[in-house]
Amino acid sequence: MASFTISVNGTPRTVTADKNDYLLYILRDKLELTGPKYGCGVGVCGACTCNSSTPIVAEGGNGNSPYSPDSRFSGTQPTTQKNKFRTCVTRIGDVGVAAGSTPAINITTIEGLSGLPNGPALQAAWEQFDVAQCGFCQAGQLMSAYEYLTRVKGAATDEGITNAMQANMCRCGTYPRIRAAMMAAAPSFR
Ligand code: FES
Ligand code: FES
Repeated sequence: MASFTISVNGTPRTVTADKNDYLLYILRDKLELTGPKYGCGVGVCGACTCNSSTPIVAEGGNGNSPYSPDSRFSGTQPTTQKNKFRTCVTRIGDVGVAAGSTPAINITTIEGLSGLPNGPALQAAWEQFDVAQCGFCQAGQLMSAYEYLTRVKGAATDEGITNAMQANMCRCGTYPRIRAAMMAAAPSFR
């Protein structure tokens, strides 16, 4: 066990953990940030998706792969790095720094979305289109949607949304409403 400092939603947080502990459990169990959800635990469903201020490369990869940044689960190295990642397969030792040091990367969970530029606009679109059904996947959906709309500066396309969101599963089938909400929010990101 060791002490790590991570920056979450703009605030440095120090936790005691094994370097191989996965960030999802740190966020949920130690920091009481329960927005990111445990869906599959192996990097395939997207329920645990969070954003990062710069791409996180942890044993090869980031959250846009339907697979995992953890080489135990995937031999595939995504070629495009993005500012989102799967916390269920990202180890604290890959994102944290020694306790008291300044983290180079800030992690944004769904709890911090409203504090990001255009975050409220995206949330308003989600409400406008009544996107959520059971809601379990929606934190991950919103964080992936935010990453895409920010990256393309609001120039959303159907194909782009499909590619950006294909690795976020929704068992309730809210995909059409997600797409509509993203298109509605896109102008705010320009
Ligand atoms: S819980 Fe499914 S990708 Fe992390
Ligand atoms: S809203 Fe129920 S799983 Fe997506």
